[in-house]
Amino acid sequence: MTSGNTTKVAVIGFGYIGSVIGATLATRGCTVIGVDRDSTIVETVMSGRSPFVEDTLEERIAQGSRRGDPRVTTDASQVAGCDVYIITVGTPLSQTFEADTDHVQAAWSAIDPYVSDGSLVIVKSTVPPHTNRGRRGGGVCRQEHRRCLLPGTPRRRHAISEFESLPIIVGGVTERAGLAAKAFWESVLDVDVYGWSAARSSPRW
Ligand SMILES: NC(=O)c1ccc[n+]([C@@H]2O[C@H](COP(=O)([O-])OP(=O)(O)OC[C@H]3O[C@@H](n4cnc5c(N)ncnc54)[C@H](O)[C@@H]3O)[C@@H](O)[C@H]2O)c1
Repeated sequence: MTSGNTTKVAVIGFGYIGSVIGATLATRGCTVIGVDRDSTIVETVMSGRSPFVEDTLEERIAQGSRRGDPRVTTDASQVAGCDVYIITVGTPLSQTFEADTDHVQAAWSAIDPYVSDGSLVIVKSTVPPHTNRGRRGGGVCRQEHRRCLLPGTPRRRHAISEFESLPIIVGGVTERAGLAAKAFWESVLDVDVYGWSAARSSPRW
C-alpha cells in the first residue's frame, strides 16, 4: 500500500464511485475533501457511516472520520487549494438516450474558480468522447424503441477491491495532462496505469 502520500484531493460527487475513491485515497494518506449537493450523503459520511453498501467502505469511512478524512461538504468553495480534482458526478441517460452531461458541466463550473494553473482535473464520470474539450461528440449507443428483457443489474460489491487492483487507463486532452494523471494514479495506487492519447488511437506510454 502506498504510504506517506500528502496529495490534497477533491472528489466532486460523493456518490457510489466518489465515496469509494474518496475513502480509499484517504486510507492511503491523501487529504480528501468531498463535495456533494446531497446533504443526506454529506451528513451520513460526516457521522462516520457509509451511504452505500460496499465491502469495507463503512470501515474505511469510520476509520477516516476519526481523523477528519474524508471531509465532505455541500460547499464547493472548500476545494480551494487542492492538487487534484476528481469529478465523479452521475451521467444519467437523457430522454433521447444520450449521456446527460449537465451534472459534469455543473461540477466543472462549481470548481472552476478554485482550480489553479497546473492542477490536475480527472473526469471519472462516464462521458461521450470530446466532452472534456467542450464539445459533445457522439459515441453513445442509441437503440430503437423495442420490446426488451430488462433485468435488474444491482451494483457489484467489489468496487473497492477493483479500484485497488485493476489497471487504470488514462487519456489526456494534452499529453502533459495525461502524463500528470498517470503520475497521480501511480503515486496513490499500486496498479498498472496505461496512457491513451485519445479514444480512437493506440496506447502511447
Ligand atoms: N470511470 C470509472 O471507472 C467509472 C466506474 C463506474 C462508474 N463510473 C461513472 O461515475 C459516475 C458516477 O457514478 P455513481 O454510480 O457514483 O453515481 P451516483 O449517482 O451514485 O453518484 C453521483 C453523485 O453526484 C452528486 N452530484 C450530482 N451533481 C453534482 C454537483 N453539481 N455537485 C456535487 N455533487 C453532485 C449526486 O448527488 C450523487 O451523490 C457515472 O458517470 C458512472 O458512469 C465511472
